[in-house]
Amino acid sequence: MEAQSLLSVFCSNSVIPSIQNPKEPLPLTLPYFSSSLCVQSLKWASIKTHHCHAHQHLTSQIVRFKKKLHCTSSVEKVDGITSDREDLKNGFRRKNLAVFVSGGGSNFRSIHQATLGGSVHGDIVALVTNKHGCGGAEYARDNGIPVILFPKTKDEHEGLSSNDLVTALRRYNVDFILLAGYLKLIPIELVRAYPRSILNIHPSLLPAFGGKGYYGMKVHKAVIASGARYSGPTIHFVDEQYDTGRILAQRVVPVLANDTAEELAARVLCEEHRLYVEVAVALCEGRIIWREDGVPLIQSKENPNEFS
Ligand code: GRF
Repeated sequence: MEAQSLLSVFCSNSVIPSIQNPKEPLPLTLPYFSSSLCVQSLKWASIKTHHCHAHQHLTSQIVRFKKKLHCTSSVEKVDGITSDREDLKNGFRRKNLAVFVSGGGSNFRSIHQATLGGSVHGDIVALVTNKHGCGGAEYARDNGIPVILFPKTKDEHEGLSSNDLVTALRRYNVDFILLAGYLKLIPIELVRAYPRSILNIHPSLLPAFGGKGYYGMKVHKAVIASGARYSGPTIHFVDEQYDTGRILAQRVVPVLANDTAEELAARVLCEEHRLYVEVAVALCEGRIIWREDGVPLIQSKENPNEFS
């Protein structure tokens, strides 16, 4: 597809958090965005005052400031600022991601590993779950990722309301939301607060075998029962209903003659991990392009005139 036929380039900075400087500190992390600004301005000041009397005083201030930062639990975040600056040289800033899970969270783990490994130019700043004891939430806690409970239910009375969830995500300066096995419907408040910024992964080739009731093994059993010879994951943008948002990426796997639902699920899951990381890489690099008719495409990194 030619670049000229594409109308709008998705602006990854289109989400402007309404709470840039929350009055109250975040409950679980140091607000490292403001630390980043501080570090940058102090470095700049250090260079500018190199030959003036203020230099010595300022240098000791910088040393004290750096020591203070390294005493906090957000040292990784502070170190991350260096890569922010490197990324800016390449033309993009690291993005803040929130991942939503209800279960084991193997997709969440593979995306997290990719952020740590450097292929995804973003950081997972929050994990949202409706089940505080699920495998994904445990992994988040083990890795110092703040866990947010949503929604509030009889069982999870500490869960947030929809509006409070939006506020919390904005406080974390979340750019994109990745649903990875989150079984609850996404509330309209969140869909409206994050336009073109929420993705979901589904384990069938949508629009087939999607919608309410199609989750987990039910999807794979239905695929096998239908006689379909191919299945595979779909990543799509999220709207107000289950599995109906615009399709962004798909991968195909064969359905074998003697497949059980578990065997097919394992084959699809393997592709899910690869596909979600590929999409997260493109998302964080601003390579999601919206075609004139509203279909999202991924722009090739190697050849910017190629889209898939
Ligand atoms: C995946 O199959 C995904 O497609 C679906 O839920 C499952 C989540 O698996 N939405 P995991 O928790 O990432 O292992």
